[in-house]
Amino acid sequence: MIILAVESSCDETAVAVVRDGRTVLSDAIASQADMHATYGGVVPEIASRKHVEAIAALADRALREAGIGKQDIDAVAVTYAPGLIGAVLVGVNFAKSVAYALKKPLIGVHHVRGHIAANYITHPDLEPPFVCLCVSGGNTMIVDVKSYTEMEILGATRDDAAGECFDKAARVLGIGYPGGAPMDKLAQGGDDTRYDLPRAHVAGAELDMSFSGLKTAVVNLVHNANQKGEALDLPGLAASFGAAVSDTLVPRTMAAARKCGYGKIAIAGGVAANSRLRADLERACAKSGDKLYLPALSLCGDNGAMIGCQGYYEYLAGKRDGMDLNAYATRDISKG
Ligand code: KG4
Repeated sequence: MIILAVESSCDETAVAVVRDGRTVLSDAIASQADMHATYGGVVPEIASRKHVEAIAALADRALREAGIGKQDIDAVAVTYAPGLIGAVLVGVNFAKSVAYALKKPLIGVHHVRGHIAANYITHPDLEPPFVCLCVSGGNTMIVDVKSYTEMEILGATRDDAAGECFDKAARVLGIGYPGGAPMDKLAQGGDDTRYDLPRAHVAGAELDMSFSGLKTAVVNLVHNANQKGEALDLPGLAASFGAAVSDTLVPRTMAAARKCGYGKIAIAGGVAANSRLRADLERACAKSGDKLYLPALSLCGDNGAMIGCQGYYEYLAGKRDGMDLNAYATRDISKG
């Protein structure tokens, strides 16, 4: 079964062609990051306009690179939530028109479910159930992946997403947007005990997280140093920051894994590319005996292939959407 998959929830326009869920025939991506870098973050209105400009040509490219024609498409999958509402709407309307014109089924896919599915593409042996730490620019949650289409949130951030926190810290340090990858690079060789940064606990909710205090701590630290004219140990700060994020995410993921007892842990989303997080999880899993599944670096960020993969499993579970499919800025992952 061949799925044309569309993703436009933030600042990447992506269209992929995926066969039988796990074989990626093409994965065309147009990133807008350079444009938003001028503003230090995503400007939603610009993101929507750029998606409109890119999407049709990108779909043509995805078909060309897959070596197939429109008549070979069996279904159309699209991210319909969560994300920047105007941006998501562009993908949803494009996917609707393709499905309508070709008279093929339309499948709305939850974006974070897509991130989780990136692991199925990387690891042909991976099947649910497992616990997945989902960490991106807009979402941070620990999910019980009971089956391909049944999921429950075990813990989540109460405020900022981990990726957003990386981006804000990078912005205050003036090292670019999006900030996760440059922070990761800067942290290499830095002393992770150089700065004492907070690791927040949410009273009464051991698997929930909070990152706004960490973000504020970095912003204050940098402003104070600037006001006093003090030089900062930038690699040390980036390493201390990465350690604080990882120290928040890893123990909760391991606690969730213990609670579920599946013996399998995966991670997903843009922040899943973080080298400190990957190394800490590898260490923790070597100790606990859980099998760890890390997505390919190329599939951590937003892409269409992951939507095609999850769309396939949603299709097998009977999900079909009509021309009334709407876009949502937020939506519970358990609701599909
Ligand atoms: O999954 P993604 O592409 O978009 C969303 O669905 O939100 O995630 C983007 C986020 C950004 O906040 C970016 O800074 C972060 O992922 N990111 C990283 C790394 N690479 C990307 N964060 C930490 N370390 C990295 N190496």
